[in-house]
Amino acid sequence: IERIGVLTSGGDAPGMNAGIRAVVRASVYYHITPFGIRHGYDGFINDDICEMHAGSVKHIIHQGGTILKSARSSEFKTDEGMKKAWENVKKHQLDAMVVIGGDGTFKGAMEFGNRFDFPIVGIPGTIDNDIFGTDFTVGFDTAVNTVVEAVDKIRDTATSHNRLFFVEVMGRDAGFIAMYSGIGAGAEEILIPEKDRGVEQLFESLERTSQRKKSSRLVIVAEGDKNANVYDIEEKVQERFGDRYETKVTILGHVQRGGRPSCTDRVLASRLGVAAVEALRKGNHGMMVGVRNRKVEFTDFEQATKRNPEMDQELMRVANIISI
Ligand code: F6P
Repeated sequence: IERIGVLTSGGDAPGMNAGIRAVVRASVYYHITPFGIRHGYDGFINDDICEMHAGSVKHIIHQGGTILKSARSSEFKTDEGMKKAWENVKKHQLDAMVVIGGDGTFKGAMEFGNRFDFPIVGIPGTIDNDIFGTDFTVGFDTAVNTVVEAVDKIRDTATSHNRLFFVEVMGRDAGFIAMYSGIGAGAEEILIPEKDRGVEQLFESLERTSQRKKSSRLVIVAEGDKNANVYDIEEKVQERFGDRYETKVTILGHVQRGGRPSCTDRVLASRLGVAAVEALRKGNHGMMVGVRNRKVEFTDFEQATKRNPEMDQELMRVANIISI
């Protein structure tokens, strides 16, 4: 192969730049010309494509966001959108492509790749860590560290006022951000979609610990938690425990998506970027590259998009034990 395109799509994630950099540098290393496709699949359709060089990715490894920009393209889901993108593949004589993103990105890649017999390899880039076939996605480590830093600060003020805080974190339908940050920040309770324990469970634990002289309580609520939204949960707790707990709600929001990528995310993205280019050179495609048990592994798009990674039972057990 002689020409590779690279794009980032879906919600941006810290470390995407490190991934772009690795794809570009590995391409140049192997005498392949890299092309940057801006604004995800929208740019693929609208010909927002330009040649890149080793220098195009200088000084970006430490930057959050994505220099190629991102989008959640609805046009790429249409027949017409796909055809337009294919015209651009021909126009720029692209032989293959690397896509960095999550589930939706891989679904689009799988469909496009199958339809036009075009080689594509995916790199999991999302803060949610909700992709099957890799232990961690690019951006997750930075995001949980951002959450822990914020929750540590909330702990200070919560303790000063003896308050109970509900902190809502991102993760879409998955509770990985909540579980990791909850354990890391020493939360009293972690509410995740994977373990729907109902509000009753939360009531029980608040009841049980209300006798203890705890100066603060933190409940981490995953945005995908099925019980209700964080304000409803707070209201229910107020109704029942209003006399015992003063409650507050913080929704961390998009702060979780930004910031300098952690070293772990930079290393992960660099490994995956190089592996993606090397796979394409060997003629392997239609799959996602991830790291499992510290080794680079490939999972076909079909599996990666159909299956959900399981929440580690051991983590739930640990969270339970240490939050008594
Ligand atoms: O997938 C990443 C993510 O940040 C989710 O955690 C969240 O549900 C969603 O994207 C928010 O998307 P948007 O930025 O488009 O509102």
